Amino acid sequence: MSAGHPRSAHRALAQDGGSDRIDPLPLFDGHPRMQTIGSIIESIADTDTTVLIRGESGVGKDLVARAVHAASARREGPFVKVNCAAIPQGLLESELFGHEKGAFTGAHRRKPGQFEYANRGTIYLDEIAELPLALQAKLLHVLQDFRFSRLGGHGLIDIDTRVIAATNQNLEAAMARGEFRGDLYYRLNVVEIRVPPLRERREEIPTLAAWFLAKFNAQYGRAKQLSPETMTLLTEYSWSGNVRELENVIRRLVVLTDGEQTVEALAARGPNGHAPVPHPSPVVTESLRDIARRGAREAERKALAEVLERVRWNRAEASRILKVSYKTLLNKICECGLTPPSRRAL
Ligand SMILES: Nc1ncnc2c1ncn2[C@@H]1O[C@H](COP(=O)(O)OP(=O)(O)O)[C@@H](O)[C@H]1O
Ligand SMILES: [Mg+2]
Repeated sequence: MSAGHPRSAHRALAQDGGSDRIDPLPLFDGHPRMQTIGSIIESIADTDTTVLIRGESGVGKDLVARAVHAASARREGPFVKVNCAAIPQGLLESELFGHEKGAFTGAHRRKPGQFEYANRGTIYLDEIAELPLALQAKLLHVLQDFRFSRLGGHGLIDIDTRVIAATNQNLEAAMARGEFRGDLYYRLNVVEIRVPPLRERREEIPTLAAWFLAKFNAQYGRAKQLSPETMTLLTEYSWSGNVRELENVIRRLVVLTDGEQTVEALAARGPNGHAPVPHPSPVVTESLRDIARRGAREAERKALAEVLERVRWNRAEASRILKVSYKTLLNKICECGLTPPSRRAL
């Protein structure tokens, strides 16, 4: 676990981390380059400067963005994340800037945009390279004037928000191809934070692995441990998916009953810096099948409970909806251990 240096950005992040987190997060303790990021965050804490966060997918850009917000005077305000790649391009302008009633077909009522929700807080524009050129122009204007109008609207809305953008793309190359506006690039890139890939800060792996282990043990009610051999293996992997991949591997180790065999499977592949993503061995495929079965049972149980609830436990109707015989339905209810509300203990 992290020793938890009393860095203000670090502390603020731990508080911001949500109740499901075991804090403190080992974010800026582990490696000199991460410590530098911690210092940058502290030095810009009392400014509203735009920040561009760069780094491969899974390195922790979202966490860094949250840390910037949490260290700033805006920490009590909203932190609004918009993933520019996740929203269809045609809807992005309305998502960001809102629209007035009747602005386009289907705009039945006025809708504020995320920029408005981020007022007095921070807006985090993830995957900024995906922003279409027309919107890049609008964003540039907003960054200059901090005012804009909703789609189909005339009045100008003033906003007070800090903009953080992130990308895993080569923006300079996109700029050279004419896909990213140079003026927006320079406007966003006032402070640039480059989050290094995990393979360039391997010193952090043991701390991160231990932290994820504690988190998932608590979450899944397990008491798994990592042997020194496992730790060596984890430390030597290339982690092309970065911290996100490490997190998922540890989750798998904790959740799977034969987690140690997963580790043996990693070992069998041989530890080297360029090893492929460690996937469970055939031994684990066995239990993956079990997991799939359990998943199917869970899904069945959930559907059954939902339908029964909906038809107020009218079993004849439920059996019609679920297209099973009455008898099968009764068996399933029994198998799944479902009880009608009247018989449930209060
Ligand atoms: N230093 C860290 N400590 C704990 N968890 C981390 C750390 N860095 C990344 N993570 C976790 O790894 C995953 C990926 O991080 P994220 O910030 O979403 O990456 P990115 O935005 O760069 O793709 C998240 O689940 C995040 O909580
Ligand atoms: Mg992200």
